[in-house]
Amino acid sequence: MCGIIGYIGEKNCIPIIINGLKRLEYRGYDSAGLGFIHNGNAHVIKSKGKVSILEEKINSNQYFSSLGIGHTRWATHGIPNETNAHPHFNESKNLLIIHNGIIENYQTIKTSLSNIGYKFYTETDSEVIAHLIDSFIHKGNTLLKSVRLALSEVEGTYGLAVIYNGEADKIIAARKGSPLVIGVGDGENFIASDVSAILAHTKQVVYLEDGEIVEVYKDKFVTRTTSDEEIQKEIHEISLSLDEIDKGGYSHFMLKEIMEQPESVRNSMRGRLLIPEGSAKLGGLDNVIERLLNCKRIIISACGTSWHAGLVGEYMIEKYAQIPTEVEYASEFRYRNPIIHPDDAIFFISQSGETADTLAAMKEAKNKGALALGICNVVGSSIARESLGGVYIHAGPEIGVASTKAFTSQLVVLALIALLLSRKLGMKAEEGKCIAEHMDQLPDKIAQILKLNSEIEFIASEFQDAKNFLYLGRGFNFPVALEGALKLKEISYIHAEGYPAAEMKHGPIALIDENMPAIFIAPKDSTYDKIISNIQEVKARKGRIIAIASESDSEIDHLVDYTIKIPDTISMLMPILTVIPLQLLAYHIAVKKGLNVDQPRNLAKSVTVE
Ligand code: F6R
Repeated sequence: MCGIIGYIGEKNCIPIIINGLKRLEYRGYDSAGLGFIHNGNAHVIKSKGKVSILEEKINSNQYFSSLGIGHTRWATHGIPNETNAHPHFNESKNLLIIHNGIIENYQTIKTSLSNIGYKFYTETDSEVIAHLIDSFIHKGNTLLKSVRLALSEVEGTYGLAVIYNGEADKIIAARKGSPLVIGVGDGENFIASDVSAILAHTKQVVYLEDGEIVEVYKDKFVTRTTSDEEIQKEIHEISLSLDEIDKGGYSHFMLKEIMEQPESVRNSMRGRLLIPEGSAKLGGLDNVIERLLNCKRIIISACGTSWHAGLVGEYMIEKYAQIPTEVEYASEFRYRNPIIHPDDAIFFISQSGETADTLAAMKEAKNKGALALGICNVVGSSIARESLGGVYIHAGPEIGVASTKAFTSQLVVLALIALLLSRKLGMKAEEGKCIAEHMDQLPDKIAQILKLNSEIEFIASEFQDAKNFLYLGRGFNFPVALEGALKLKEISYIHAEGYPAAEMKHGPIALIDENMPAIFIAPKDSTYDKIISNIQEVKARKGRIIAIASESDSEIDHLVDYTIKIPDTISMLMPILTVIPLQLLAYHIAVKKGLNVDQPRNLAKSVTVE
């Protein structure tokens, strides 16, 4: 999704902005641009494709500028090309804007500005903002007032930054629906859509809220509401280090993040798992626990991988806490006027905490009086801040577009929630203790599975040319089948489908022949015998089979072509183990196909548009 960075200070902003844009690459983008004021003139340099292409176009020695803004674009209105890349100029080419979000009424604004002589050069919705601000400046307003007046006419979402050579001592930035932070430095200040863009320079940040506009000078910043009331903002200290967001010696962020899972899963449980009591302590739910325990129904709402985590959560909560639980795609939930009662508790799961559909669904749930709770990774993200309570997953920054460690940490947090609720609702301490002990063993078991990396790489080489894949699982491992298929398709562009294994005979079995590999998630649990029958059905039709199986299972080897043996755990926690080989398999297949694993085509890390 679009990324934003801005700098004002004494240094040359050009390398700072280029490096910041590189830090934002993980969000996914199709073009990039940089704008700055040099010798009293506004300059723009843009390019389609990677930030490195943009960098090649700039001769840093040619320009010195201490005021600039940069942007990575993920196209929504208008194709990805150099013209549509940001920043956008006003008519007199002395004002520049960068924008993340969508201006819903841009056509209306465009028509009225065209009627008074403004010309448009791009297909974007964003360009209207530059001309609209310009129209207010021409009426004698300051930049700040012009931005405020322009935004009062705009419907939609924005994270916006503006610079103007008529007032070259400031950046004006504003937020509604798209994340924006101010980085506070010493004699220099920054704005960014994401702290990772500015972390090399400062760890002091201020989160802008919806409806706030800030004037950022080199030595101060002043924040106001859209109705011009000044507000005091709290400065937060970021604890992430740059090392934490580097590849740490791995060839891809995705592999690094897969390999980090023993640690990230441990971090998700740290201080929360109460083994002797057989329960969990989740401070973020303390204030809402009575309401949560008395709710009539739990809904879990999310998108993509987070939605798959929600499905596992449904099985966990229903099995142990016996609270009716439903899982909803946030994108569907928000639009179908769902029946929501004040005695519903709704967990919104989002790694980024910025997914537009999930955030909108949360607002809808809050409006209808439900208990809206967040399960997020990014601290201070929009969903985390909107929620009435919740749990951070503490997986650490996830840079690879394909979610891996966030998924396993989401499952851990859902297991902690299920454990906490179940114990409070009558589960015996002994049973809770058994779950807690198994949870405690997960990091070591994940580490054991990760040792199978080369074995899985070999299997990947055998299957890299397959055109389709079926992923099949039952019970707790049905959502893992969906997640395994999603991982493969998003990074290797191979068509893959996940199914509950028993559904195979209701249609997908027609696809099975020697060219259709099937991956069975078949640990020894209560559905094992059934899944063995499904394996035999595929074998009888000459399908090639990979099985994720229990290390204690020696019989399955005779039935399938390849087995990946993993340690046992209780069925509720099995998805945290079974998904690991599927992440590695997808990763190695994509690498062998020579694809951009960390930034797959057409995808963005944080989907902040509908
Ligand atoms: C897939 C993936 C996406 C996200 C989805 C929701 O690997 O990462 O499917 O899970 O876009 O994102 P969050 O969790 O940030 O709300």
